Amino acid sequence: MAEIGVIGGSGFYSFLADARPVAVETPYGPPSEPPVVGVVNGREVAFIPRHGADHRLPPHRVNYRANLWALHSLGVRNVLGPCAVGSLRPELTPGTIVVPDQYVDRTWGREHTLYDGDPRPVVHTSPADPYCPIARQTVLAAGNVPASGGGGDQNGESGSGGSGSAGSGSAGSGSAGSGSAGSGGVVDGGTMVVINGPRFSTRAESQWHAAQGWSLVGMTGAPEASIARELALCYTSVAVVTDHDAGVTTGEGVTQAEVFEVFGRSIERLKALLTDVIGRLPTGDCTCHHSLDGTAAEHLWTTEAA
Ligand code: ADE
Repeated sequence: MAEIGVIGGSGFYSFLADARPVAVETPYGPPSEPPVVGVVNGREVAFIPRHGADHRLPPHRVNYRANLWALHSLGVRNVLGPCAVGSLRPELTPGTIVVPDQYVDRTWGREHTLYDGDPRPVVHTSPADPYCPIARQTVLAAGNVPASGGGGDQNGESGSGGSGSAGSGSAGSGSAGSGSAGSGGVVDGGTMVVINGPRFSTRAESQWHAAQGWSLVGMTGAPEASIARELALCYTSVAVVTDHDAGVTTGEGVTQAEVFEVFGRSIERLKALLTDVIGRLPTGDCTCHHSLDGTAAEHLWTTEAA
Protein backbone atom coordinates (compact mmCIF):
# COMPACT_ATOMS: atom_id res chain seq x y z
CA MET A 1 0.00 0.00 0.00
CA ALA A 2 1.04 3.60 -0.51
CA GLU A 3 -0.39 7.00 0.44
CA ILE A 4 1.24 9.23 -2.20
CA GLY A 5 1.54 8.61 -5.93
CA VAL A 6 4.02 10.10 -8.39
CA ILE A 7 3.49 9.83 -12.14
CA GLY A 8 6.83 10.57 -13.78
CA GLY A 9 6.94 12.34 -17.14
CA SER A 10 9.35 12.43 -20.07
CA GLY A 11 12.82 11.63 -18.79
CA PHE A 12 11.53 10.68 -15.34
CA TYR A 13 11.50 6.90 -15.28
CA SER A 14 12.57 6.00 -11.75
CA PHE A 15 12.24 7.59 -8.33
CA LEU A 16 12.39 5.08 -5.51
CA ALA A 17 15.66 3.58 -4.34
CA ASP A 18 14.14 0.53 -2.66
CA ALA A 19 11.34 0.04 -5.14
CA ARG A 20 9.34 -3.16 -5.31
CA PRO A 21 6.94 -3.65 -8.22
CA VAL A 22 3.34 -4.42 -7.39
CA ALA A 23 1.11 -6.19 -9.92
CA VAL A 24 -2.20 -4.36 -10.24
CA GLU A 25 -5.11 -5.26 -12.48
CA THR A 26 -7.46 -2.53 -13.60
CA PRO A 27 -10.73 -2.60 -15.56
CA TYR A 28 -8.96 -0.47 -18.17
CA GLY A 29 -6.02 -2.73 -18.89
CA PRO A 30 -2.46 -2.37 -17.69
CA PRO A 31 -0.96 0.88 -16.42
CA SER A 32 2.09 2.31 -18.21
CA GLU A 33 4.21 0.08 -15.95
CA PRO A 34 3.36 -1.92 -12.84
CA PRO A 35 3.61 0.63 -10.02
CA VAL A 36 6.67 0.40 -7.81
CA VAL A 37 6.24 1.10 -4.13
CA GLY A 38 8.86 2.31 -1.66
CA VAL A 39 9.59 4.84 1.04
CA VAL A 40 10.49 8.46 0.28
CA ASN A 41 11.18 10.87 3.10
CA GLY A 42 9.36 8.60 5.55
CA ARG A 43 6.23 8.19 3.42
CA GLU A 44 4.96 5.22 1.40
CA VAL A 45 5.04 6.24 -2.26
CA ALA A 46 3.91 4.50 -5.45
CA PHE A 47 5.58 5.51 -8.72
CA ILE A 48 4.52 4.98 -12.35
CA PRO A 49 6.50 6.36 -15.31
CA ARG A 50 3.74 7.87 -17.46
CA HIS A 51 5.31 6.99 -20.81
CA GLY A 52 6.61 3.58 -19.68
CA ALA A 53 10.11 2.87 -18.43
CA ASP A 54 11.37 2.86 -22.02
CA HIS A 55 9.30 5.86 -23.14
CA ARG A 56 7.29 3.73 -25.56
CA LEU A 57 3.94 5.48 -24.96
CA PRO A 58 3.23 8.81 -26.70
CA PRO A 59 0.97 11.22 -24.77
CA HIS A 60 -2.19 10.17 -26.65
CA ARG A 61 -1.55 6.48 -25.94
CA VAL A 62 -0.95 6.76 -22.19
CA ASN A 63 -3.60 4.79 -20.30
CA TYR A 64 -4.44 7.59 -17.88
CA ARG A 65 -7.42 5.72 -16.47
CA ALA A 66 -5.39 2.59 -15.67
CA ASN A 67 -2.53 4.61 -14.13
CA LEU A 68 -4.81 6.47 -11.76
CA TRP A 69 -6.93 3.45 -10.97
CA ALA A 70 -3.78 1.47 -10.15
CA LEU A 71 -2.52 4.17 -7.79
CA HIS A 72 -5.92 4.49 -6.14
CA SER A 73 -6.18 0.73 -5.67
CA LEU A 74 -2.87 0.81 -3.77
CA GLY A 75 -4.37 3.28 -1.29
CA VAL A 76 -2.94 6.45 -2.85
CA ARG A 77 -5.03 9.55 -2.16
CA ASN A 78 -2.54 12.24 -3.20
CA VAL A 79 -0.95 12.29 -6.66
CA LEU A 80 1.92 14.47 -7.86
CA GLY A 81 2.12 14.80 -11.63
CA PRO A 82 5.48 16.13 -12.82
CA CYS A 83 5.64 16.87 -16.56
CA ALA A 84 7.69 18.67 -19.18
CA VAL A 85 6.12 21.78 -20.70
CA GLY A 86 6.89 24.52 -23.17
CA SER A 87 6.75 28.14 -22.05
CA LEU A 88 4.38 30.66 -23.64
CA ARG A 89 5.89 33.55 -21.71
CA PRO A 90 9.34 35.02 -22.21
CA GLU A 91 9.95 35.28 -18.46
CA LEU A 92 9.28 31.58 -17.86
CA THR A 93 12.65 30.33 -18.96
CA PRO A 94 13.84 26.74 -19.39
CA GLY A 95 14.55 25.12 -16.03
CA THR A 96 11.75 26.98 -14.24
CA ILE A 97 9.34 24.76 -12.32
CA VAL A 98 5.75 25.99 -12.49
CA VAL A 99 2.83 24.88 -10.32
CA PRO A 100 -0.11 25.63 -12.64
CA ASP A 101 -3.49 26.52 -11.21
CA GLN A 102 -5.59 25.97 -14.33
CA TYR A 103 -5.53 24.03 -17.55
CA VAL A 104 -7.24 24.14 -20.92
CA ASP A 105 -7.89 20.75 -22.50
CA ARG A 106 -7.32 20.75 -26.26
CA THR A 107 -6.79 16.99 -26.48
CA TRP A 108 -9.09 14.69 -28.41
CA GLY A 109 -9.65 10.98 -28.92
CA ARG A 110 -8.34 10.02 -25.47
CA GLU A 111 -10.20 7.83 -23.00
CA HIS A 112 -10.93 10.69 -20.67
CA THR A 113 -13.46 9.49 -18.12
CA LEU A 114 -14.29 6.65 -15.74
CA TYR A 115 -17.99 7.48 -16.04
CA ASP A 116 -18.67 6.16 -19.48
CA GLY A 117 -22.16 4.98 -18.73
CA ASP A 118 -23.44 1.47 -18.10
CA PRO A 119 -22.35 -0.34 -15.96
CA ARG A 120 -20.90 2.79 -14.35
CA PRO A 121 -23.27 5.50 -13.15
CA VAL A 122 -23.54 8.87 -14.84
CA VAL A 123 -21.38 11.20 -12.77
CA HIS A 124 -20.43 14.80 -13.46
CA THR A 125 -17.43 16.10 -11.53
CA SER A 126 -16.19 19.69 -11.44
CA PRO A 127 -12.64 20.58 -12.41
CA ALA A 128 -13.31 24.29 -11.80
CA ASP A 129 -10.23 24.40 -9.59
CA PRO A 130 -8.50 21.36 -11.02
CA TYR A 131 -5.55 21.01 -8.67
CA CYS A 132 -5.36 20.21 -4.97
CA PRO A 133 -5.21 23.53 -3.06
CA ILE A 134 -3.29 22.01 -0.15
CA ALA A 135 -0.74 20.07 -2.17
CA ARG A 136 -0.16 23.09 -4.42
CA GLN A 137 0.70 25.21 -1.41
CA THR A 138 2.94 22.43 -0.14
CA VAL A 139 4.92 22.41 -3.40
CA LEU A 140 5.18 26.20 -3.31
CA ALA A 141 6.36 26.16 0.30
CA ALA A 142 8.99 23.56 -0.56
CA GLY A 143 10.02 25.77 -3.49
CA ASN A 144 10.30 28.80 -1.18
CA VAL A 145 7.52 30.69 -2.92
CA PRO A 146 5.85 33.06 -0.44
CA ALA A 147 2.32 32.03 0.55
CA SER A 148 -0.26 33.76 -1.61
CA GLY A 149 -2.80 34.19 1.17
CA GLY A 150 -6.49 34.70 0.64
CA GLY A 151 -7.46 31.17 -0.18
CA GLY A 152 -5.10 30.14 -2.88
CA ASP A 153 -4.62 31.14 -6.47
CA GLN A 154 -7.74 29.97 -8.15
CA ASN A 155 -8.16 33.01 -10.37
CA GLY A 156 -6.51 31.41 -13.34
CA GLU A 157 -6.07 33.82 -16.19
CA SER A 158 -8.93 36.07 -15.25
CA GLY A 159 -6.57 38.97 -14.93
CA SER A 160 -7.78 39.57 -11.43
CA GLY A 161 -4.50 39.03 -9.76
CA GLY A 162 -3.88 35.29 -9.91
CA SER A 163 -2.03 34.23 -6.83
CA GLY A 164 -0.90 37.53 -5.62
CA SER A 165 1.17 40.60 -5.98
CA ALA A 166 3.97 41.33 -8.37
CA GLY A 167 7.15 39.66 -7.31
CA SER A 168 5.47 36.71 -5.70
CA GLY A 169 6.46 34.34 -8.42
CA SER A 170 2.98 34.30 -9.90
CA ALA A 171 2.58 33.53 -13.56
CA GLY A 172 -1.17 33.48 -13.50
CA SER A 173 -2.22 37.06 -13.68
CA GLY A 174 -0.56 38.45 -16.72
CA SER A 175 2.21 40.07 -14.71
CA ALA A 176 5.79 39.05 -15.00
CA GLY A 177 5.87 37.53 -11.54
CA SER A 178 9.49 38.31 -11.05
CA GLY A 179 9.92 36.80 -7.59
CA SER A 180 11.14 33.29 -8.14
CA ALA A 181 10.56 33.15 -11.87
CA GLY A 182 13.48 32.30 -14.05
CA SER A 183 15.62 29.25 -14.57
CA GLY A 184 15.85 27.25 -11.38
CA GLY A 185 12.99 28.91 -9.55
CA VAL A 186 9.52 27.70 -8.66
CA VAL A 187 6.58 29.76 -9.90
CA ASP A 188 3.04 29.89 -8.53
CA GLY A 189 0.18 29.62 -10.97
CA GLY A 190 -0.52 29.83 -14.64
CA THR A 191 -2.69 28.08 -17.15
CA MET A 192 -1.37 25.07 -19.00
CA VAL A 193 -2.91 24.35 -22.38
CA VAL A 194 -2.78 20.64 -23.11
CA ILE A 195 -2.39 19.76 -26.78
CA ASN A 196 -2.84 16.29 -28.22
CA GLY A 197 0.66 15.85 -29.54
CA PRO A 198 2.82 14.05 -30.22
CA ARG A 199 3.77 16.92 -32.52
CA PHE A 200 4.59 20.31 -31.08
CA SER A 201 2.57 23.41 -32.03
CA THR A 202 2.78 25.42 -35.19
CA ARG A 203 4.00 28.97 -34.72
CA ALA A 204 0.44 30.23 -35.26
CA GLU A 205 -1.01 27.80 -32.71
CA SER A 206 1.65 28.79 -30.24
CA GLN A 207 1.04 32.51 -30.74
CA TRP A 208 -2.69 31.92 -30.37
CA HIS A 209 -2.16 30.01 -27.10
CA ALA A 210 0.04 32.82 -25.76
CA ALA A 211 -2.50 35.46 -26.86
CA GLN A 212 -5.15 33.74 -24.72
CA GLY A 213 -3.02 34.57 -21.70
CA TRP A 214 -2.00 30.95 -21.18
CA SER A 215 1.46 30.35 -19.71
CA LEU A 216 2.44 26.79 -20.54
CA VAL A 217 1.87 24.12 -23.14
CA GLY A 218 2.09 20.40 -22.46
CA MET A 219 0.70 17.11 -23.74
CA THR A 220 -0.24 15.02 -20.68
CA GLY A 221 -1.94 17.28 -18.12
CA ALA A 222 -5.34 16.21 -19.46
CA PRO A 223 -7.11 13.94 -18.89
CA GLU A 224 -4.78 12.99 -16.02
CA ALA A 225 -6.02 15.73 -13.69
CA SER A 226 -9.72 15.22 -14.42
CA ILE A 227 -9.55 11.44 -14.00
CA ALA A 228 -7.81 11.97 -10.66
CA ARG A 229 -10.75 14.16 -9.69
CA GLU A 230 -13.14 11.42 -10.81
CA LEU A 231 -11.46 9.18 -8.22
CA ALA A 232 -11.61 11.93 -5.58
CA LEU A 233 -7.82 12.06 -5.48
CA CYS A 234 -5.72 15.10 -4.70
CA TYR A 235 -3.74 15.93 -7.86
CA THR A 236 -1.02 18.52 -8.39
CA SER A 237 0.79 19.32 -11.60
CA VAL A 238 4.49 20.14 -11.25
CA ALA A 239 5.59 21.44 -14.65
CA VAL A 240 9.22 21.75 -15.71
CA VAL A 241 9.76 24.31 -18.48
CA THR A 242 12.00 22.76 -21.09
CA ASP A 243 11.70 25.25 -23.96
CA HIS A 244 10.12 28.39 -25.30
CA ASP A 245 7.33 27.18 -27.53
CA ALA A 246 7.49 27.91 -31.25
CA GLY A 247 5.68 31.22 -31.37
CA VAL A 248 7.29 32.83 -28.36
CA THR A 249 10.68 33.22 -29.94
CA THR A 250 11.85 33.57 -33.51
CA GLY A 251 14.05 30.46 -33.26
CA GLU A 252 13.77 27.25 -35.15
CA GLY A 253 10.93 25.83 -33.06
CA VAL A 254 10.98 23.17 -30.38
CA THR A 255 12.91 19.94 -30.79
CA GLN A 256 12.50 16.69 -28.89
CA ALA A 257 16.23 16.69 -28.19
CA GLU A 258 15.95 20.12 -26.54
CA VAL A 259 13.06 18.99 -24.36
CA PHE A 260 14.88 15.86 -23.19
CA GLU A 261 18.17 17.68 -22.68
CA VAL A 262 16.69 20.41 -20.47
CA PHE A 263 14.50 17.97 -18.58
CA GLY A 264 17.58 15.80 -17.98
CA ARG A 265 19.38 18.82 -16.52
CA SER A 266 16.42 19.54 -14.22
CA ILE A 267 15.60 16.03 -13.08
CA GLU A 268 17.71 15.92 -9.92
CA ARG A 269 16.34 19.28 -8.79
CA LEU A 270 12.81 18.08 -9.54
CA LYS A 271 13.34 14.86 -7.59
CA ALA A 272 14.76 16.82 -4.64
CA LEU A 273 11.74 19.13 -4.70
CA LEU A 274 9.31 16.21 -4.84
CA THR A 275 11.14 14.43 -2.03
CA ASP A 276 10.82 17.55 0.10
CA VAL A 277 7.15 17.91 -0.85
CA ILE A 278 6.42 14.27 0.00
CA GLY A 279 7.83 14.78 3.48
CA ARG A 280 5.67 17.87 3.97
CA LEU A 281 2.33 16.74 2.50
CA PRO A 282 -0.28 16.78 5.24
CA THR A 283 -2.23 13.64 5.96
CA GLY A 284 -5.93 13.68 6.52
CA ASP A 285 -8.98 15.01 4.82
CA CYS A 286 -9.00 17.37 1.84
CA THR A 287 -11.77 18.94 -0.22
CA CYS A 288 -10.53 16.83 -3.17
CA HIS A 289 -11.59 13.69 -1.31
CA HIS A 290 -15.16 14.98 -1.40
CA SER A 291 -15.34 15.48 -5.17
CA LEU A 292 -17.84 12.66 -5.50
CA ASP A 293 -20.00 13.55 -2.52
CA GLY A 294 -23.66 13.52 -3.50
CA THR A 295 -23.04 11.64 -6.75
CA ALA A 296 -23.88 8.07 -7.66
CA ALA A 297 -20.18 7.23 -7.35
CA GLU A 298 -19.89 8.42 -3.76
CA HIS A 299 -19.20 4.95 -2.40
CA LEU A 300 -18.06 3.23 -5.58
CA TRP A 301 -14.30 3.28 -5.23
CA THR A 302 -14.07 2.35 -1.60
CA THR A 303 -15.56 -1.03 -2.45
CA GLU A 304 -14.19 -1.52 -5.96
CA ALA A 305 -10.68 -0.21 -5.92
CA ALA A 306 -9.50 0.28 -2.40
N1 ADE B 1 6.49 19.49 -23.60
C1 ADE B 1 7.68 20.12 -23.49
N2 ADE B 1 7.74 21.17 -24.33
C2 ADE B 1 6.56 21.21 -24.98
C3 ADE B 1 6.01 22.07 -25.95
N3 ADE B 1 6.69 23.11 -26.43
N4 ADE B 1 4.76 21.81 -26.41
C4 ADE B 1 4.07 20.77 -25.90
N5 ADE B 1 4.54 19.92 -24.98
C5 ADE B 1 5.76 20.14 -24.51
